[in-house]
Amino acid sequence: MEGEFLETPEIVFETAEKAPSGAFSSSSAKHSLQELYTFWIFFQKISKGLAERVPARSSLASGLPQKEFLSFLVVVWVKSGGNATIVNMKKIVIGNWKMNPATLLEARKIFSKVKKTASSCKKVHTVICPPFLYLSDLASKSSKESLALGAQDTSSLESVGSYTGFLSPLMVKNIGAQYVIIGHSERRREGETDEMINKKILASLSIGLKVIFCVGEKERGHDGHFLEFVKQQIHLGLQGVSKKSLQNVLIAYEPVWAIGAENAILPRDLHQMKIYIRKVLSEFFGPSAVVKVPVIYGGTVNPENVELLLLAGEVDGFLVGRASLNPKDFSAILEVANASK
Ligand code: PGA
Repeated sequence: MEGEFLETPEIVFETAEKAPSGAFSSSSAKHSLQELYTFWIFFQKISKGLAERVPARSSLASGLPQKEFLSFLVVVWVKSGGNATIVNMKKIVIGNWKMNPATLLEARKIFSKVKKTASSCKKVHTVICPPFLYLSDLASKSSKESLALGAQDTSSLESVGSYTGFLSPLMVKNIGAQYVIIGHSERRREGETDEMINKKILASLSIGLKVIFCVGEKERGHDGHFLEFVKQQIHLGLQGVSKKSLQNVLIAYEPVWAIGAENAILPRDLHQMKIYIRKVLSEFFGPSAVVKVPVIYGGTVNPENVELLLLAGEVDGFLVGRASLNPKDFSAILEVANASK
């Protein structure tokens, strides 16, 4: 199981000598140069006092530690020997059904419709996270290759025991799920702490589940505190996780204000946040972790905005709520992800 996320898309910063032949295309190299250039221009503008022209909510301008960020880009650039490249591999699209639908029959219908599209979208790894109650039934219809299953939560107790109402990661795995969502803001809202989340993550990883670890700020102020907030969530949630186990973690960046909302995050802000999250991971785990952890986005993803979020946001996939319950919408999202380079 270890290293399976290498199937998913990732930015790889590596020396040209180390690159396996044919892995990197010249167009992807150009893309990365362009990315670094965009950031360079962006931060130059800020340093010239133009930050006020950028709407505070729509950018990191108000709070990003510029020097730190620039030095990160420079380190990446130097480490890459001038060949920071993007390898386009499988996107990961996860449907979080939350407390829906009301009957198993409906769940089966949605699942089988999604399965049709999922099996034709070979460049996407599709995962459905239904309510626990439907997991076992849908597991018999799932497929590791085209449509995998995940749970929406788990306890921090690895195996079995006298814990009324609890479900363990072992049970989740034994029922046929490969993934588990941990730290969703709707669980945090019910009192789940970073410490509890950390325990759940450790228990799930030790059982061999892949963890979809949700982080995201409740709001964005002018002071940029949200950056520190997300950094703390990542730090506390991943405490004690080894570099090896980190290969089975996906970071789902879900700003709470964009969940169940009218509009998703702006693609440009998403792109900046994705790079920031990689920077944070790199600080905690070393630069090699950057290449192994997909960063996906969740919060009002729909067929209308998915393309822009993917292209300009450059995320590795999505965690989709409402739209995942509508097979037509979810299929459209899968198809866009499948068509992306
Ligand atoms: P949404 O939910 O797509 O309905 O905004 C996303 C989520 O909560 O994971």
